[in-house]
Amino acid sequence: MNIEVLTLFPEQFPGPLTAGVTGRGLAAGRVNLRVHNLRDYTHDRHRQVDDVPYGGGAGMVLKPEPIFEAVRARAGKGPVILLTPQGELLNQELVRELAGYDDLYLICGRYEGVDERVATHLVDREVSVGDYVLTGGELPAMVLIDAVCRLVAGVLGSEASPKDESFDQRLLEYPHYTRPALFEGHPVPEVLLSGHHAEIERWRRSQAVERTRRRRPDLLDRQQG
Ligand code: ADE
Repeated sequence: MNIEVLTLFPEQFPGPLTAGVTGRGLAAGRVNLRVHNLRDYTHDRHRQVDDVPYGGGAGMVLKPEPIFEAVRARAGKGPVILLTPQGELLNQELVRELAGYDDLYLICGRYEGVDERVATHLVDREVSVGDYVLTGGELPAMVLIDAVCRLVAGVLGSEASPKDESFDQRLLEYPHYTRPALFEGHPVPEVLLSGHHAEIERWRRSQAVERTRRRRPDLLDRQQG
């Protein structure tokens, strides 16, 4: 899979993506990451990427021309995604869909925003990583890349079955335990030591459902709807 990133801060990449599963995927060439500096698509002496907002107000807005030029220069054909708090929320379903493409093009927003014509006439999707505002789209792009890399064939190595796929993806995970069986007076649930696979499965399922009901009832509501 080829992932291209357009950013004002190319030095932030690959950053944390070099570690662990994503790092192995990048090193093995299963995921190719190409990072473009937005300033390379300007043509003025100051390499200006932003300007004041029409209608006034605080902050600067990213200009459309360099972004359009950068995206038009790309080789890939997959979706163009703008990372913005205005986007649809990233969830595992969207991650799975994006992992199915041969290439993705991610645009990292900055400043007060991005000229709306980028969203309306250039971008296929706007994606948010949560209902909070970060200083830019770079960390969200890394979050998206990490989640997609995890699913790209071969990146997972020995843990090849994404564990959260054992139950419905819209359930939280059941609790995990490893040795010792008794730690500082806290025992591992008896059923897990029983060797009864059917019972263990039943227990895990009920723990996952109960935990989801208590912590994230919205996930269960969505399932029924
Ligand atoms: N840029 C700033 N905040 C963001 C968020 N929550 N998701 C995606 N891009 C962003």
